[in-house]
Amino acid sequence: MESQINYIKNKPTLKGPKNVLVIGSSSGYGLASCIVSAYGCGANTIGVSYDNPGDVNKVGTVGWYNIKAFQNSLKDSHIKSFNIFGDAFSYEVKKEVAQIVKNNLGKLDLVIYSIASKKRIDPETKQVYSSAIKPINERFVFKTLDINLKRLYESSLDVANEEEIFQTKKVMGGEDWYLWIKFLDDKKLLNNNFKTVAFSYIGPVFTYPIYRNGTLGEAKKDLEKTAKSLKSMLKKYKGDALISINKALITKASVVIPSMSLYVSTLYTIMKRKGIHEECIHQVYRLFKDNIYAKNFKNMDEEGRIRLDDLELKDDVQKEVTDIIYKVDSDNITKYIDLDGFINDFLKFYGFNQDNVDYNKEINLIDWK
Ligand code: NAI
Repeated sequence: MESQINYIKNKPTLKGPKNVLVIGSSSGYGLASCIVSAYGCGANTIGVSYDNPGDVNKVGTVGWYNIKAFQNSLKDSHIKSFNIFGDAFSYEVKKEVAQIVKNNLGKLDLVIYSIASKKRIDPETKQVYSSAIKPINERFVFKTLDINLKRLYESSLDVANEEEIFQTKKVMGGEDWYLWIKFLDDKKLLNNNFKTVAFSYIGPVFTYPIYRNGTLGEAKKDLEKTAKSLKSMLKKYKGDALISINKALITKASVVIPSMSLYVSTLYTIMKRKGIHEECIHQVYRLFKDNIYAKNFKNMDEEGRIRLDDLELKDDVQKEVTDIIYKVDSDNITKYIDLDGFINDFLKFYGFNQDNVDYNKEINLIDWK
């Protein structure tokens, strides 16, 4: 967190939004969006995340501490930061957010949609939908990385059925993003030139069976289609709804995708070696500076999507990554992949292995509430 804040503090201030809502604010791309908004643009933020504070016997979720640390870092500044801990899919949370915006901020200039979730309760029917990470066209056989044992083993996944595809779209598709913007529009909480951005992923061709052409990819295509409907809704504000295709990074959401740990650890190794590795904070900074708050979009593709995966998908990067993935096995893995670096990055994401923290020191969990 501190290093992300320092990275942005050392950049020139951006002429950007004044009031920002981040849905999925406590981790990964959403947390980076809060940091760039507050420290890069001086914007007030309101976040929504699904986190627990823990109690005297049990620590809370990492997102809880991320949000508390983010808010503490701003307490002596004029920048306001709110966070609702609750289910973003529900109408109750939407109403709570609307009330806070109305009472404290006025209108919103930007909404970032950065939810990664396994489940969604439909706010109307109360039906519970679950997302599945499965291929659609044919059985997917892949190498899985066991981080603890530093070994690879072969796994496979059967194809999804129609119901699993449907439910994954319900959770990770565009429906909730649309409901949020419609709700805020109905409540008259959107400013002129309002923008909204949702995050998607494409990845290299050899991951298509499990990602882009799988259940999650179908959901992401639905999200991308939703941007088009939102664009029409936002015309009256001269607003915009955008999709940003981001780079694969270690987050809570990405490590659970089968075969992704091997791909991401190889990608990190190659991109770090080439000096072009980026984390969430670098990606979101580029999103703001070079795209949504620039005169022209620097990274827009012919389909109108912002491509922050440009460095990940460079031919030379993908050639080296693919070569390694095809030849790597349990015996030679540490020769080709910087597993220790990857494990360190993974632990850092969860707040461990930080250089400036004394992990032997007693802490009072209640102080964090
Ligand atoms: P993450 O797991 O780090 O963060 C997800 C956030 O969503 C957390 O703040 C969590 O509390 C919140 N959340 C989950 N369910 C919620 C609920 N019901 N109500 C309120 N908040 C809820 O995820 P990450 O990786 O930052 O992903 C964010 C978006 O970026 C996702 O749409 C993902 O598909 C996309 N993306 C991620 C990439 C990656 O490699 N990590 C690459 C490209 C896109």
